[in-house]
Amino acid sequence: MKENMDGTTRERLSHIQGIPLLERVVKYWPRVEKFQASEEDLLIATYPKAGTTWTQEVVDSILNEGDVEKCKRAPTQVRMPFLEMTAPDGITKLEVMDPPRVIKTHLPIQLVPRSFWDAGCKVIYMARNPKDTVVSYYHFDRMHLYQPEPTVHYSICLVLCKMGILGWGSWYDHVKGYWKERHNKKILYILYEDMKEDPVREVTRIAQFLKRQLSKSTIEHIVQMTAFSAMRENPMANYSTIPDTIFDRTASEFMRKGEVGDWKNHFSAGEDAAFEEHYRKIMSDCPIPIRFTI
Ligand code: PPS
Repeated sequence: MKENMDGTTRERLSHIQGIPLLERVVKYWPRVEKFQASEEDLLIATYPKAGTTWTQEVVDSILNEGDVEKCKRAPTQVRMPFLEMTAPDGITKLEVMDPPRVIKTHLPIQLVPRSFWDAGCKVIYMARNPKDTVVSYYHFDRMHLYQPEPTVHYSICLVLCKMGILGWGSWYDHVKGYWKERHNKKILYILYEDMKEDPVREVTRIAQFLKRQLSKSTIEHIVQMTAFSAMRENPMANYSTIPDTIFDRTASEFMRKGEVGDWKNHFSAGEDAAFEEHYRKIMSDCPIPIRFTI
């Protein structure tokens, strides 16, 4: 792994079409841009920390009809590579994998390689309320030693999110971009809070979107397999295969809390009020039914 002059590994952000991305994403961008998707491929798209890994595990469980052993065949990043990330996972694996592939991306809709739309691929987009997202992002940056330096406080992280300075850009533009296209393209738009509230209902929606007929008991089994408590203990779904030189687990954990409303433990009433005012204004043209509590 590449080290900076001072021996640290944290990367800076560079830009593609104005979107801040990790330097190694930008370095290999031409390969990502010309990636050839096939009609059978499925794209799971999210803003970082929105519940990507959870959605991935649900999808893999549906495609394998709740077979626990099949879903434990390899770690998440091997089963469902991260499109814009380079070696050891991501585009390098995808280029040698045959369709049908389940592919993870955090790219905003305008950066998704054109071949996905030309091929008519299905996309599952999960959004999570921005306050819980930035709290999760903050802890992730503390833990992930290749992410840019973590911000010094959650509220600063929230401000950076508002300004679109965090990796993968503005949360607002991201969630709105997929929302506005959901009827024009094959996009299933799901919400983290809905999935927490009623996972049976949401897993059923995903299965229907994937045209998989599953019995009620299989759906219930999948809900159990993909619950936070089960995934946290599952070495093939909890990123425990990532070495400590990349994930500093003394700082935080990947499977941290998995809750709705943890933001209440992190923002003062004043910070929250300022955010709410901004949020209402920016979201007024796009009524995504995102909830901050359930
Ligand atoms: S990443 O790095 O962007 O792919 O991270 P991502 O998977 O999108 O988000 C990580 C957060 O999702 C939580 N998580 C879950 N919540 C509920 N149920 C399940 N099964 C689940 N699996 C992962 C994970 O704990 C991170 O949220 P926080 O709030 O930090 O706990």
